[in-house]
Amino acid sequence: MHTAEFLDTEPTEISSVLAGGYNHPLLRQWQSERQLTKSMLIFPLFISDNPDDCTEIDSLPNIKRIGVNRLNDYLGPLVKKGLRSVILFGVPLSHGTKDPVGTAADDPEGPVIQGIKFICENFPDLYIMCDVCLCEYTSHGHCGVLYDDGSINRERSVSRLAAVAVNYAKAGAHCVAPSDMIDGRIRDIKRGLINAGLAHKTFVMSYAAKFSGNLYGPFRDAACSAPSSGDRKCYQLPPAGRGLARRALERDMSEGADGIIVKPSTFYLDIMRDASEICKDLPICAYHVSGEYAMLHAAAEKGVVDLKTIAFESHQGFLRAGARLIITYLAPEFLDWLDEDN
Ligand code: PBG
Ligand code: ZN
Repeated sequence: MHTAEFLDTEPTEISSVLAGGYNHPLLRQWQSERQLTKSMLIFPLFISDNPDDCTEIDSLPNIKRIGVNRLNDYLGPLVKKGLRSVILFGVPLSHGTKDPVGTAADDPEGPVIQGIKFICENFPDLYIMCDVCLCEYTSHGHCGVLYDDGSINRERSVSRLAAVAVNYAKAGAHCVAPSDMIDGRIRDIKRGLINAGLAHKTFVMSYAAKFSGNLYGPFRDAACSAPSSGDRKCYQLPPAGRGLARRALERDMSEGADGIIVKPSTFYLDIMRDASEICKDLPICAYHVSGEYAMLHAAAEKGVVDLKTIAFESHQGFLRAGARLIITYLAPEFLDWLDEDN
């Protein structure tokens, strides 16, 4: 009784009432600085060298390894729902295609170049990004060319990566995205594109801040790209290395990157914020990687989370941290969800 009287007489502080700002679904949308849209979604495609392939990947729910002959059926419904962009990864399955320098990466008959050509012809409005790396194509499974002692030969790696990037651009890729993390490759790629007369129509999206964590396992199952010995710790960044990431961001921007990828995403929101400040004039892209995606699925299956709700929550986090684009295995779901009332 006493307390109630006390509260009645005490005027409410004007500044303490926030609820009026978000008591309606529309207001809750207005509270976001950047809203999730279909055009910011980039869907990863694993294209194998078996043209009729359509194989589920156990560790990557709902995602398939797909052959060129199946691309029409796979992509058609997604493009109809509003998919604007894909990122291509090649998966050479046939025996004897891998060698120490990753020759198969830009094989004109290989899955990436064939995939680019198919998409250009059949989905002319789809924006084609290509992951540029050697790990899917090297016999040792590392992302570059190695010295005899197993360490990365920087010079040979970056010139090989630049050649691959130029060949993807020649085949019709709109964007090349080097994911190898070897020093200086952005400069060589940009120079290669200039020399080939392709720089003005090719976007160089650098995986500038890419960390060597424990979240790429399902991808390596899908792309058959796990290193046969060793790990990637001497080229991908150590998870605690915020300063190194900032230096890599500065470096790649100065070497001519047109856009920046931060990867993984959920555990690296501070890096995403750093990227959006350091590279404030470039679009920042979050990569919600295979392990993060598989974890959300596993948690949803266990009943720990609701997949749609957690998907929005995580992806809105990337936008809040400064991302403008998102590479996500959830793109097909979002194309449906964004049509629903949220
Ligand atoms: C190739 C590459 C990888 C990913 C993107 N490009 C694997 C790796 O670096 O080992 C990971 C993407 C994912 O986990 O979804 N270098
Ligand atoms: Zn690689």
